[in-house]
Amino acid sequence: MSDPAAPPATPEVCDFVVFGGTGDLSLRKLLPALYRRELEGGLPEDTRIIGVSRADLDDEAYRAVVRDALASHVERSDLYDGAVDRLLSRLHHVPMEFDDLAQWHLLHGLLKDRPRVEEAVTVFYLAVAPSAFGLICDQLDEVGLVTERSRVVMEKPIGHDLASSQQVNDAVGRVFAESQVFRIDHYLGKESVQNLLVTRFANTFLEPLWNSRWVDHVQITVAESLGVGERGAYYDRAGALRDMVQNHLLQLLCLVAMEPPTYIGRETVRDEKLKVLQALKPMTPADVDRDTVRGAYGEGLVEGQPVRSYADDLGEAAPESGSTTETFVALRTEVQNWRWAGVPFYLRTGKRLPRRTSEIVVVFKAPPHHMFPHSEGSAEPNRLHIQVQPDEGMRLTMTAKEPGPGGYRLRPVSLDLSYADTFDQRSPDAYERLIMDVVKGNATLFMRRDEIEAAWSWAEPILDRWTTAPDRPRRYAAGTSGPTAATALIERDGRSWQEIE
Ligand code: BG6
Repeated sequence: MSDPAAPPATPEVCDFVVFGGTGDLSLRKLLPALYRRELEGGLPEDTRIIGVSRADLDDEAYRAVVRDALASHVERSDLYDGAVDRLLSRLHHVPMEFDDLAQWHLLHGLLKDRPRVEEAVTVFYLAVAPSAFGLICDQLDEVGLVTERSRVVMEKPIGHDLASSQQVNDAVGRVFAESQVFRIDHYLGKESVQNLLVTRFANTFLEPLWNSRWVDHVQITVAESLGVGERGAYYDRAGALRDMVQNHLLQLLCLVAMEPPTYIGRETVRDEKLKVLQALKPMTPADVDRDTVRGAYGEGLVEGQPVRSYADDLGEAAPESGSTTETFVALRTEVQNWRWAGVPFYLRTGKRLPRRTSEIVVVFKAPPHHMFPHSEGSAEPNRLHIQVQPDEGMRLTMTAKEPGPGGYRLRPVSLDLSYADTFDQRSPDAYERLIMDVVKGNATLFMRRDEIEAAWSWAEPILDRWTTAPDRPRRYAAGTSGPTAATALIERDGRSWQEIE
């Protein structure tokens, strides 16, 4: 019997087909990630990368586009002519309108007319609008390009609510088995996020404390200093809850809250994450009014630079009636199970906050008894900070005695683990890890359909209530930590947010 916990092997032959091959995601993230794998010798020897897009480009013209993209998105010190040329030599481009079957036959010819075709793993990466997912999958099926060795990768957004996510998943699922579908949440590819699993499950000291008896509350913050940039048209239809909370923040929450699986494997981890999502406290309209705050940034100063308001950033993409889309969300939820009963999880994310930082803070309870009556300072609750980005690391704050005679002076100190100082290695971009996992067929760090649906089922009542609620997102000045109501949300429970500044 094969070992279900064994990591899958890298295939020797691979065709990596990117739909949306000239799009922003491909040029900014996917091709630079493939370049880095090339540089480090990680790509299967016989790999071809095939960009598919509407652009009328032959292979040479596409290679020139990708060469420019690498120059812009890979650090200069990491660009080596030999590796760039090797990657470019793997590239092809197929111009295509998705509804034109003749062009699909060209793709078919390219994929089938290759040595060792029967060994080739074919990855179809859908870096296009989700409305095209169904059509692309149908056409792949129609021209006979779907085999047992095919995999399909879906980028978010997967729907804008439960029903539409089911439609997208049904359309893809008619052609590909669930085991062939890889739904990316790039937060799961971040080193520090994976380290959370190791910290929790490869050490013993945390586990006895990791529950409602010792944990007071958990905070998860994903702050961005950037605004919506050129993505206004997409973003205004999504908003922060759909864009960040329903996926990235809930996935972080799952990794903090999940039970230990038997081993770290594709179904075991996803089974445990699903249970967390199913245990999230459902929100009634009254809960939404009380436990969520949404905001939209006004103009302000970010990192010393004056920036425009969200409405101004939207420009022509703004709806006539004015936008009611949130660029900031703070909320309080609970995981209703034995381990976490009564422990609040506070989530917060926003654009145009003071700086880019993502952090999980587990705040432990205060010591039950004050034993240093004449001391200076007090024993503060311990906090475990898991710094997801930038400067990945972990910090445990604890109380120590300041050295010296004459009584006890209590001071908070911290035990620090900085990735950069501890490991003499660069942290790869999330896409480098995730792309290779797809090639190897390892879906542990990808979202299963039932997870997506459980996340939408929880998020939908919030979206519904916001649609009918009379108030609009509260304005916050760019460069601040969000609307004051977000501060009030946590302070009314006698707690406070970790500072973003
Ligand atoms: C994406 C969102 O999924 O994540 C963006 O659509 C957001 O709006 C981005 O900016 C943040 O990713 P990261 O890795 O920069 O934190």
